[in-house]
Amino acid sequence: MKYRIASIKGDGIGPEIVTQAQKVLNSVGEKYGHEFEFVELLMGGCSIDVNGVPLTEETIETAKSCDAVLMGSIGGDTRTSPWYKLEPSKRPEAGLLGIRKALKLFANLRPAYLYPELKEACPLKEEVAAKGFDMMMMRELTGGLYFGERYTKEIDGVMTAVDTLTYNENEIRRIAIKAFDIAMKRRKKVTLVDKANVLDSSRLWRKVTEEVAADYPEVEFLVMLVDNCAMQLVKDPAQFDVVLTENMFGDILSDEASMITGSIGMLPSASLNETKFGLYEPSGGSAPDIAGKNIANPIATILSAAMMLRYSFDLDREADAIEEAVKKVLREGYRTIDIAKSGEPQVKCDEMGDLIAARI
Ligand code: IPM
Ligand code: MG
Repeated sequence: MKYRIASIKGDGIGPEIVTQAQKVLNSVGEKYGHEFEFVELLMGGCSIDVNGVPLTEETIETAKSCDAVLMGSIGGDTRTSPWYKLEPSKRPEAGLLGIRKALKLFANLRPAYLYPELKEACPLKEEVAAKGFDMMMMRELTGGLYFGERYTKEIDGVMTAVDTLTYNENEIRRIAIKAFDIAMKRRKKVTLVDKANVLDSSRLWRKVTEEVAADYPEVEFLVMLVDNCAMQLVKDPAQFDVVLTENMFGDILSDEASMITGSIGMLPSASLNETKFGLYEPSGGSAPDIAGKNIANPIATILSAAMMLRYSFDLDREADAIEEAVKKVLREGYRTIDIAKSGEPQVKCDEMGDLIAARI
């Protein structure tokens, strides 16, 4: 089969890590008889530099015409980059939020799995790490505080900033259904994370998710307050299977979940709409401090490509091949700087790509 993939390399380490994922996909194509065509598109800071805006209609339309989107990362140093002198709606992040909304990517899947080989890189207590963990963070991606009305103005002579958190029942139901569907293919447990002791929006999430849960009698349904969840993630992460939550809580908890795997450079993500279409990107940021040094960890991006094969193209065997190749290089002891123990030999970003591509 032939697949057209929109490739948004973006800023910072984005170009380096996406190039490695493309290399691995080409290797998959050769082995399994597929052709992957990459359509390079600009978004984020690099688009500001060329087009004056972080996201153009052309990028949106071309991305829509492709079978899926593979992305690196966007943004720069918020204190020094000239991109952050622009008004907020013209900054790199606005491009990312804009494409999520334009492509209706409401379901963000961030799997956090502790590779046995990386237990030493896990910052948790040894007895906690020893139990391992394997969870799927499901973050709502096109609603809540990120997309509510916001403004800053003087009210009664006092400068006031307002951000609004809105969800309707349909937005909650569609991602809750996806979460339960995914749980059915995993360990059949969903934990809804909210702040229902304070927020109306969280109370609606509970009500709607409870209704959805009733249609999945085989799935155990639990609720947890977000502050407790932040604590449980470091105390006993093995308890979680699917974690379902709203946009802002998901942003924060998914960084926490990624860090306990050893490095944010290990965590892939998929952002899906109602169809098979998705945008696949590492959960980490553009890491401007290490950009261009060829030391970034490309594994999260390579695993994001595997998620693309699985969720958008139904190529499970090929996705397995990538995940197995990643496990193999880790077992063989290859490490990028972020996951190496002190004194352990380190490989560069492109070498890691070569090693994984060679093991497909
Ligand atoms: C993420 C990032 C983005 C977000 C930023 C870059 C806007 O942190 O994908 O988690 O907050 O969603
Ligand atoms: Mg984030």
